[in-house]
Amino acid sequence: MLRTHNCGELKIKDVGLNVTLCGWLHRLRNLGGMTFIDIRDRYGITQLAFDEKTNKTLCDFAQTLGREYVLQVKGVVKERSSKNPKMPTGDIEIEVNEIKILNKSKIPPFTIEDNTDGGDELRMHYRYLDLRRNIIKLNLSLRHRLSILIRNYMNDNGFMEIETPFLVKSTPEGARDFVVPSRMNVGQFYALPQSPQTFKQLLMVAGFDKYFQLVRCFRDEDLRADRQPEFTQLDCEMSFVEQEDVLQMFEGLIKYLFDKEKGLQFNKFPRLTWEEAMRLYGSDKPDIRFGMKFVEINDEVKGNGFSIFDNAELVVGICAKGCANYTRKQLDELTDFVKRPQVGATGLVYIKCGEDGIKSSIDKFYSVEKLEQIAHKFNAEKGDLILILAGEKGKTRASLSCLRLELGTRLGLRNPNTFAPLWVIDFPLLEWDEETHRFYAMHHPFTAPKPEDYEKLFTHPAEVRANAYDLVVNGVELGGGSIRIHDRKMQNDMFKALGFSEEEAQNQFGFLLDAFEYGAPPHGGIAFGFDRICSVFSGVESIRDFIAFPKNNNGRDVMLDAPSNISLQQLDELNIKLK
Ligand code: AMO
Repeated sequence: MLRTHNCGELKIKDVGLNVTLCGWLHRLRNLGGMTFIDIRDRYGITQLAFDEKTNKTLCDFAQTLGREYVLQVKGVVKERSSKNPKMPTGDIEIEVNEIKILNKSKIPPFTIEDNTDGGDELRMHYRYLDLRRNIIKLNLSLRHRLSILIRNYMNDNGFMEIETPFLVKSTPEGARDFVVPSRMNVGQFYALPQSPQTFKQLLMVAGFDKYFQLVRCFRDEDLRADRQPEFTQLDCEMSFVEQEDVLQMFEGLIKYLFDKEKGLQFNKFPRLTWEEAMRLYGSDKPDIRFGMKFVEINDEVKGNGFSIFDNAELVVGICAKGCANYTRKQLDELTDFVKRPQVGATGLVYIKCGEDGIKSSIDKFYSVEKLEQIAHKFNAEKGDLILILAGEKGKTRASLSCLRLELGTRLGLRNPNTFAPLWVIDFPLLEWDEETHRFYAMHHPFTAPKPEDYEKLFTHPAEVRANAYDLVVNGVELGGGSIRIHDRKMQNDMFKALGFSEEEAQNQFGFLLDAFEYGAPPHGGIAFGFDRICSVFSGVESIRDFIAFPKNNNGRDVMLDAPSNISLQQLDELNIKLK
């Protein structure tokens, strides 16, 4: 080994030891007679001291070294005269007697600090330098620890990790596929898997009754803070289970991770049906760190001549505690917020329950008594502000959900160190799409309807509920799964409801339909977004810095400059002609 110790481990007990350290030059301070260098590696930072009086040549040499040079130093551990309690190695320094440059470095394009001066694109271009920053190193360490904990829990509970292929078949459901041309099969393409869904079901048919995999998935969809085109799932499946068994097993996993990583314990996770989640929070992934539940007031407000309310399918609001003193400007800001295209409301109505009485933007249409009656429905007290939206049910709920989260943030109710997990259950099986005029599977086409709703698949498809569930923490969908169909006829019915002809279904999913004829056991499972677990555990919105080499928001790897053109010869081999 080129070193005896790492840069994070020497303490006061090591004083007097002769040591050799290797690492990167983090900082150099020339204080006249003394020169100090902070040397950094994965484990920490240690101070090196050079005294002009004892070794001028070495001290002069040290002053010529540049940032990010790779050094090997030999010296003696000394107690520092001025200690730094903020550093784990802050009690000691190394009195250096030999220094060797293992490699030089160009001046890095940004500072290797938590608060770096490098912009996003620059850091992504030099990701290997960005990864030297402590903050990202800590993120990747967390990711590593969580992956070990997950494997321990899964193994302890009898799950087997089995790998499934990456070159698979393109299917029209779900997000867009990334496709890979096949050289040996001219004009044909593989697809990269969006998830190992069908494989894990086939593993159940094969009898591997408890499967898991930490697996890369690929989706060509629009990117957001919590979405990457390639991301990692903890993918799981179990046989001979009902929904309750799956929920308990994976509630156990999430509790285990919180306990081991953060020392946090939880009671049974609350459960909301999808219908309740939408009605109370306007979202299927509610942030329940704070209340501010929706209150529907159709009955209270209709028929008073205020056409916006009279014509609305839904009039619904929230009560912001202690916000009655919001100024005109603050209310205008909130109105502008809800009118943003991403939020989509047309206007915002307020009722202020002030110390000096009730005031509202709709005073003209509603008497003080009526407004008080509405305020009562919100359980509003003096000092509270009620904010109301009206319109088509789905859109109005979605807009109010955005406003609720915005207010939660502004009022400091979304503490990143507080964790509020819940299950959302009983999702609808199908979702109507206005554009294509057909139903889509809300989760995926292999999800089983609730047995009591099965018959409605043929008469009232929109009303069928599924044995499908999501695990949500702090407003982030961490995972989702379902009990699956394991019967060929039911799967055929499902494809029919999705508008597939029998031939199309056989063409695309024949392998699964066939397998269902060879003794498929009842089964169900779930998949978690592993990158999301990491970011939520850190209280961070973006998953990007929990992935060593992520893509940017346009799906590009700016370091590799991918995607990129390929040579004409490669195109020829693949028999692909570009327009
Ligand atoms: P689903 O599509 O809900 O289910 O995905 C499961 C979980 O994966 C995470 N996730 C993502 N994370 C980062 N970037 C993305 N682009 C991305 N897309 C999804 C989310 C999500 O909850 N096969 C089913 C699971 C099952 O039924 O067992 C599936 O893939 O955290």
